[in-house]
Amino acid sequence: MPGGVTLREMTAADIPAVHELERRLFPVDAWPLQMFVDELAQAETRHYLVAERAGKIVGYAGLMCMEPISDVQTIAVIPEHEGQGIGSALLTELIRESRRRRAEDVLLEVRADNPRAQQLYRRYGFQQIHIRPRYYRDGVDALIMRLRLGTRGPDTTPREADRP
Ligand SMILES: CC(C)(COP(=O)(O)OP(=O)(O)OC[C@H]1O[C@@H](n2cnc3c(N)ncnc32)[C@H](O)[C@@H]1OP(=O)(O)O)[C@@H](O)C(=O)NCCC(=O)NCCS
Repeated sequence: MPGGVTLREMTAADIPAVHELERRLFPVDAWPLQMFVDELAQAETRHYLVAERAGKIVGYAGLMCMEPISDVQTIAVIPEHEGQGIGSALLTELIRESRRRRAEDVLLEVRADNPRAQQLYRRYGFQQIHIRPRYYRDGVDALIMRLRLGTRGPDTTPREADRP
């Protein structure tokens, strides 16, 4: 884990703080607070995490898993803590949970104009399988990316060849 960072399950008490970060990190299409409430209420098919440093939430991520598909619903790290491996730690845990829940594929959507996130996903073996034109509210396309768990073996770390 990156220095001083811990991951734990998101609880209802975290939602106001998470929602504040959400509005800052996703100015175009932030989820309404109620969406987090609804997501956490579906524990059977959801897995939400927060990353904390010195008692403060610095990142969060969430997964929906309905066998055999797992879907990364959201992942975010606040700018002051980016580039230190927190996004990777969150993604590693979501992939691990997907395996635990016997998902064969992990899917996600990412903005076509977000190369940083795309690069993170590619390091983990995600590949682009589809484009949804003008998917986002501001007209930007969504790339649909997929990680095949069935074919990649048991590791949850980036492939050696893709490491920076
Ligand atoms: C995308 C996002 C989640 C990545 O989070 P992050 O914590 O910066 O991710 P990491 O630090 O694990 O990896 C990012 C980079 O830092 C590098 N890095 C990882 N650990 C590092 C360390 N200890 N020291 C320096 N750099 C490091 C990684 O190599 C990686 O480099 P790359 O982008 O060239 O591949 C974050 O940028 C973010 O929240 N963006 C805004 C919201 C968003 O776009 N979310 C995704 C929606 S689909």
